[in-house]
Formats: sequence, structure tokens, C-alpha cells
Amino acid sequence: MVYFNKKSIDKLEKIYRLNLINSCTGFKSANLIGSIDKDGNNNLAIFSSVTHLGSDPSLICFILRPKTEFRNTYDNILESRFFTINHINKDDIKDAHHTSAKYPKNISEFDKTNLEAVFLNEFIAPYVRSSKIKLGCKYLNEYTIKENSTILIVASIEEIYIENNILKDDGWLRLDEGGTVAINGLDGYVQTELIERFDYARPKK
Ligand SMILES: Cc1cc2nc3c(=O)[nH]c(=O)nc-3n(C[C@H](O)[C@H](O)[C@H](O)COP(=O)(O)O)c2cc1C
Repeated sequence: MVYFNKKSIDKLEKIYRLNLINSCTGFKSANLIGSIDKDGNNNLAIFSSVTHLGSDPSLICFILRPKTEFRNTYDNILESRFFTINHINKDDIKDAHHTSAKYPKNISEFDKTNLEAVFLNEFIAPYVRSSKIKLGCKYLNEYTIKENSTILIVASIEEIYIENNILKDDGWLRLDEGGTVAINGLDGYVQTELIERFDYARPKK
């Protein structure tokens, strides 16, 4: 086994450490966040930190990198208060990855990729048409993580769109049937396959 301790981790070359630390916590969710500014400029960016926060009320959160450079997603969310979360499916990984490129505010990632913006019902922020699971979210609060100046955004789920067959009778979403991918590190995309689903675990007698 390879062993790293705190001291050797701190001494690692920057990119090596970035890859190591980004992969060592396991697979991450793969989502595109769609947002819009007050002038109607659409924005789309990939995020691997979207996490369920609680189901009653229905909350999600995600981590934003420190505000050391412009962050269109963050600025747009603060302006409009609403944004969308769109699962990345396996056919879209190349374009999804490209949304991490730093485009200025007036250039939309929707115009630089084959990902298509779609506006559903009255929701102000753009969804990704090809995404099979889409959430409409409302910004509620943010918390600065003082250890590294990242920002934890907390939001409520206002609406959910799910493509047929993914939603099962008890509300569970079979994500692998939708082709939703997961992220390995910062640049690896993996396909998923369900192994098994279990009953609610209770202590053994
Ligand atoms: C696989 C992957 C995952 C990412 N996850 C995050 C994330 O969780 N939080 C974040 O702030 N940036 C993340 N990024 C970086 C953003 O996608 C990138 O900063 C993007 O330019 C932000 O766009 P914006 O300025 O339009 O908001 C990730 C990039 C990649 C390639």
C-alpha cells in the first residue's frame, strides 16, 4: 500500500495533490448548474459538490470555490435567487466538462456546447434539455467555510422533473437507468450500474 501522512501530503506537487485529494473521498455527483443574470444572460457550469442536505424540508447544498476571481454562477444566483441543477448523462460528458472553462458573463456555455437551454413553466433559470433529472432550486443562505474561504450554498428544491422509467413506485430514482454519471476526481467521468438495493437496516437480534 502507498502511504501518505500530513507532512508528505503538504509537500506534494500542486497538481498531484489536487488530483489525490479530489479523488480520495470517493465518487461525486455530476451536475450542471444553470443560472441567469438580470440582463437575461444564461450561464451553465459543472459542479461535483451538490449534496442532499435533508428531505423535510427538501434542501440541497453545494460548495463554491473562493471568490478570488469572477464566479458567474454565484453572482447570478445572488441576483435572481433561483437556479437549476441538471444531472449529467453519459452522452453529455464532454460538453459538461467544457462548461468549467472560464467564459465571461456575456458568453453563455449553452452557445459554446451542444447543451441546449430550455425554460420550463414559469421558472426563471434555464434547464438543460437533455438532462434526465432536473431540479429547480431557490437560494436560501450561504456559509463561508473559514478554513479555506469556500462558500456553502444552501437551497430549497422547488420543483423536480424526471424522465419516464427512472422514478420507481416508492419515490426512489434508479439513476443508472437514466445514464447519470459520477465524477472521479476533477476530470474523470464514470458510468454506474446498480448492484443491489436493500431493505431499511435494523439491528440484528
Ligand atoms: C468535474 C468538475 C467539478 C467541479 N466542481 C466544482 C464545485 O463543486 N464547485 C466550484 O466552485 N467549482 C467547481 N468546478 C469548477 C467550475 O465548473 C468552474 O469554476 C466554472 O468556470 C464556474 O463557472 P462560472 O464562473 O460560470 O460559475 C468544477 C469543475 C470540474 C471540471
